Amino acid sequence: MARVRGLLIEGGERLIGEVTISGAKNAALPAMAASLLLEGKTVLENVPQVRDIETFKTLLECLGAKVRWVSKGVLEIDASALTDITAPYDLVKAMRASILVLGPLLARAGRARVSLPGGCAIGARPIDLHLRGLEQMGASITLRHGYIYASARKLKGTRIYLDLPTVTGTENLMMAASRAEGVTVIENAAREPEVEDLAELLGKMGVRVEGAGTSVLKIEGVSQLRPAAHRIIPDRIEAGTFMVAAGITRGNLLLRGCRLDQMEAVVEKLRQSGIEIIPQDSGIRVVGPTKIRSADVRTLPYPGFPTDMQAQFMALMTLANGLSVITETIFENRFMHVSELRRMGADIRIEGSSAIVTGVPSLSGAPVMATDLRASASLVLAGLAAEGRTTISRIYHLERGYEALAEKLASVGAKVQRVEIDEGA
Ligand code: EPU
Repeated sequence: MARVRGLLIEGGERLIGEVTISGAKNAALPAMAASLLLEGKTVLENVPQVRDIETFKTLLECLGAKVRWVSKGVLEIDASALTDITAPYDLVKAMRASILVLGPLLARAGRARVSLPGGCAIGARPIDLHLRGLEQMGASITLRHGYIYASARKLKGTRIYLDLPTVTGTENLMMAASRAEGVTVIENAAREPEVEDLAELLGKMGVRVEGAGTSVLKIEGVSQLRPAAHRIIPDRIEAGTFMVAAGITRGNLLLRGCRLDQMEAVVEKLRQSGIEIIPQDSGIRVVGPTKIRSADVRTLPYPGFPTDMQAQFMALMTLANGLSVITETIFENRFMHVSELRRMGADIRIEGSSAIVTGVPSLSGAPVMATDLRASASLVLAGLAAEGRTTISRIYHLERGYEALAEKLASVGAKVQRVEIDEGA
């Protein structure tokens, strides 16, 4: 019998109080990667203390950077001297976002050796577009023994069209372009706020980036970047998750430090479902409805509804007063939470890439298992609303991306505690 860490939730408490939203993990990771581009220091503020950030810190240290927490949320990275060009299998296996070192390493050192990420719980997740873009900039790339070997004497600016607006792919190419010779144009680029945040940081480092937040990015490479300090944007997915938490528990939360302008699709859908979201001087007030209304959702690249909020929205819809259709268009296997939500009494049917959710009057607490970061969040949300006890095992998934989730929930009245759970072999 293996023992794993889990969460025990006694459902049924209305969440009331204030929560401060942390910095965005998915903006902090590329910012940390960008620090490799310069022979000097980068200071990042509002970095969430979550496991993926610690993993990336370890990766930067393996490459020779000196990384330290200066104070809570403030990370200083000194990449003056790099001693290695390898992102090893163990780290890439633990976190696919490790691929983000490929572009900056290649641009800075002329060489990089990065373990090829395998499949993952939510889909195959190829990285062909990252590699093709780098090749178009003049890199030579080979795959051997599970590793990507990339080299380039000097990357050259060029025009790159991305078949899909890949988020980390766009970020990798932006970083590579920052030290390339000439101008790189990335067409069909990702428009996510995290990409825009990286553009802002690169700008502070002396790179000219035009078009951030649009689908055409123009990056003018420089031979040397300068040290920069940057504050990471708030986590729009964490904010959305807390909005659902307020909604699903008929609670009343004040969210501090989040930006509604970066989460319009989510706010629109939550309002359709009956949740009130009201900007106030001190933050965003979120009030749950007496009855949740059903709404359909289709995940799309930004500014569409984010795939990273699909599972949490589905948890909300399990208790809506009707039928909702939730369609996942980004990842082919992102319905792992469905069978666990069913164990709690949800009525969900999957047809191809859509989940058809028929709202039920109540969920009942049950032992369930987390499978990936956002799926885990949806189980926590369902547990908060369910009657009785829910135990969620394998919460290491949750700890990868949510800063102090259990503590934040407990501070607004949730009955949640960390426990050890026995899991059969
Ligand atoms: N794709 C390709 N080829 C590529 C790259 C992507 O076919 O070379 C496909 C993917 O398979 C997928 C689609 O393009 O179907 C979009 O994937 P994308 O590359 O945009 O995803 P990502 O960059 O690997 C980031 C986030 C994810 C988030 C997605 C979509 C980071 C570190 N990760 O991943 O975040 O779901 O964008 O918005 O930024 C999470 O935080 O839980 C998470 C999974």
